Amino acid sequence: MSTMTINGRPATLPDDPDALLVDVIRDDLGLTGTKLVCGAGVCGACTVLVDGAPVVSCLMPARAAANTAVTTVEGIGATDLHPVQKAFMAHDALQCGFCTPGFVVEAAVFCDAWRKDKGTAIPSREEIGAALSGHLCRCGAYDGIFNAVAAACAGQFDGIEFASPRVEARAKVTGSAKYTVDIRHDGQQEGVILRSRFPHSRITELDLSPARAIPGVSAAVSLLGDDRIVRFVGDPIAAVAAKDRKTAEAAIAAIRMNAERLPSVIGLDAARDPGSPVVFEKSSRRKAGNVSEGTPAPAAWNGNVRGPSSAFSQKARKARNWVAAAREQQNPWLVEETFRTGTQSHSCLEPHATVARFDGDRLTVHASTQSVFHLMELIAKRYRLGHDKVRVIADHVGGGFGSKGTLGIETTAAIDLAREARAPVRIAYDRHEEMSVTGYRPATELKIALLPSGQGGLKALSLTAYADTGAATNSTLAALARLIYPAEAKELVDYDVISNLPPGAPFRGPGGPPMAFALEQAIDEAALRMKLDPIALRQRWDPNPNRQRLYDWAAGLDLWRNRPTARAQTGRYRRGVGVAAGYWLYIWQPGVKIELKVESGRLVASTATQDIGQGSRTVIANTVAHEFGLEPHDVDVRIGDSDLPEGPGAGGSRSTASVIPPTLLAAQKLKDAIEQHAKRKPVPGSNAPWREMIAASPDLAVASVRPEDSRPAAPDIRSPMKDAGFIGMIFGWMLRRFSNLAVGAGVPSSVQVIEVEVDTWLGHVRVLSVHTGIAVGRIAAPALARSQATGSVIQGLGYALYEARETDSRSGNVLSAGMEDYRIPGIADTPALSVHFDEAGFDHVLGGSVGIGEVATVPTSPALANAIHNATGVRLTEIPIRPDRLISALKGRTAA
Ligand code: FES
Repeated sequence: MSTMTINGRPATLPDDPDALLVDVIRDDLGLTGTKLVCGAGVCGACTVLVDGAPVVSCLMPARAAANTAVTTVEGIGATDLHPVQKAFMAHDALQCGFCTPGFVVEAAVFCDAWRKDKGTAIPSREEIGAALSGHLCRCGAYDGIFNAVAAACAGQFDGIEFASPRVEARAKVTGSAKYTVDIRHDGQQEGVILRSRFPHSRITELDLSPARAIPGVSAAVSLLGDDRIVRFVGDPIAAVAAKDRKTAEAAIAAIRMNAERLPSVIGLDAARDPGSPVVFEKSSRRKAGNVSEGTPAPAAWNGNVRGPSSAFSQKARKARNWVAAAREQQNPWLVEETFRTGTQSHSCLEPHATVARFDGDRLTVHASTQSVFHLMELIAKRYRLGHDKVRVIADHVGGGFGSKGTLGIETTAAIDLAREARAPVRIAYDRHEEMSVTGYRPATELKIALLPSGQGGLKALSLTAYADTGAATNSTLAALARLIYPAEAKELVDYDVISNLPPGAPFRGPGGPPMAFALEQAIDEAALRMKLDPIALRQRWDPNPNRQRLYDWAAGLDLWRNRPTARAQTGRYRRGVGVAAGYWLYIWQPGVKIELKVESGRLVASTATQDIGQGSRTVIANTVAHEFGLEPHDVDVRIGDSDLPEGPGAGGSRSTASVIPPTLLAAQKLKDAIEQHAKRKPVPGSNAPWREMIAASPDLAVASVRPEDSRPAAPDIRSPMKDAGFIGMIFGWMLRRFSNLAVGAGVPSSVQVIEVEVDTWLGHVRVLSVHTGIAVGRIAAPALARSQATGSVIQGLGYALYEARETDSRSGNVLSAGMEDYRIPGIADTPALSVHFDEAGFDHVLGGSVGIGEVATVPTSPALANAIHNATGVRLTEIPIRPDRLISALKGRTAA
């Protein structure tokens, strides 16, 4: 029997030669601060110290740890926080926190070694980037990490008091934050899903009895629909629960199954062929997934092509005719181009996971979800249970980005298995499942024609978008072009192209980034042809007051004013500066309720929302604290539990806009209640007495829902839905009726200026700096808002330069189903980032704040492509902008 010490205590290692150190640490020893993500040694989330050296525990056999001293994040700063941990907290070097323990372990070792060698010298970004290059953060918290590590190395966090802008940061830097994958109940079983190996087939026989006969198996259930058809590789067929994963996988292998292969079609180009095999017959179309957050509007189907959806067009025929005439006349100002964008995977570091448990007739579900309350509603509806019989819990969520907003198969399968097994069941996707079947931002083809008028106005815009949605529908790309650049006529047409691929899913600003990649480059091209400054043309064509202020800011940047002259450079390395605008909807969720209490002399705020890294806890704590003149840590925030009053989902940038107004109303109510019970009133103009009055108050509770009429009229800022006329009103009504979302007045906006260096020999693009201007009203939590903005930019850089989910066009297999195959940005890819918040524009919203998560990522890919054009004179029409594509484009220009 071999042993190791872990965090100073002896521990026995299993005899199993296959056991990995990460599993022993997490499952046998319960030290869940160490996270399992990639299983391939490329993300660093499982990093621990073995005899003081950082090691990825997902690749290390447990036996190899015999006679060593292992330290996990729980052992770093076990008594006093390590300076790195304090610095991560103070610099908000984290969002969802799932990657944080791995970063902390590695950075602490780096910091200790640095201090020993270099004293309090400050390491460069390159040195920090090199030290942490084995770690990935999907939230893109890299800018904060640079700052935190530099500050810790400089001795700025040696034994000092410090303030953390994020209220739950301590739990995340110490590894004590519990995520769904960390939940362990007594007797908990492990669930595994059997998935289709074929892209299209009918399951003619499914016999689960051989699986049930295996010792240790507690349940086996079919997941087939009534037609028994599977429509993509990875489509679920059955699920098994057993005492451990190894036994469950053996049971999956024992299932007897026969399948009749059906003809299949893979991908955008093949599925548009009218003769391609049909994926969804008319009777089965409701089984298609949804790539947007709203309810699909009715649209025609023609084989695998759904559309045209063109409700947001305006004088479409005129737009078409004017463009055709300009083409005929060879109008030099007519910009026509076809753009293509790649498929982007959410790549959440915490996989989709659920732990389901029945206690009598009450069901408790721990889920990695973006919506605890809505998930409870969906579960209750599906299983015909009362809301009081279902509880959904998500204390911490390791990222979602849109992919965890609804009821997934990991949840229904876990519930079905738990019911049959009469035991708690966990299903946690492995990395292959996470990267292949949990959704993605669809690839697109966008045909754009933009026609300036002879007087320099915008006469016509025509945009037709085809989205490669897999087994899903409801893409909205072209429709979003209604939010900006009013024209005399617009033809905006969307098509879904359905094929035997896993369904796409909403992804941060669904439809926004690919649409902007086409539209914002077309605007740039028009400016060049019209010999105008690209910002000046936007100011001329885009009357939105929020963006007008941002254009002024961008035009005033030294970087913009001193940008290189277009097409003027020669030589291998060329520098360029580009600009683009971003736009999103101000979405909020009606019915959200905040309960505010005095409980044992402390303030407690509660609502059934969740924090996926965007900072809901902090936004609520800051808002309440500000109202009472207290500090955020004086407020206890309870979220992540559907038993609390109804809270918003975290999608569509709705959280902040949905929680602040009822929080403010509740704060006022609670003040009144406290005053009624107090012997004396607070001194006017002074908040100081609230602390004493709260401490002396009996327990009290109030609750508030934001009433519809809490928004004062704003006659100068029209709703984007009203701007879109009757159809916009109908769309707004549908969102409200079927998705419980309201679209408010005003357009959250951003403008980005990006600086690049292009290696014209090798086709590499180095992003030097990104300046992001954002207008989303008052910033409720500045450090967190900055983190979210920079993280969105980094995701946008990945979308523009690296990320491409690849599928085999014959078999339908996802080829990039590991973090080692799917390239997301790392810390060393991070450029200098600056964020400018323009806090005006939303005074008509109670509290003055709307969401930030989507709008900051929309303009990144076109701003970067415009910068490359500025540097080289070539326009990149396809992302990701791989070196081979850039070299081809450069050669094409030379040849021409
Ligand atoms: Fe790094 Fe979320 S904070 S993955």
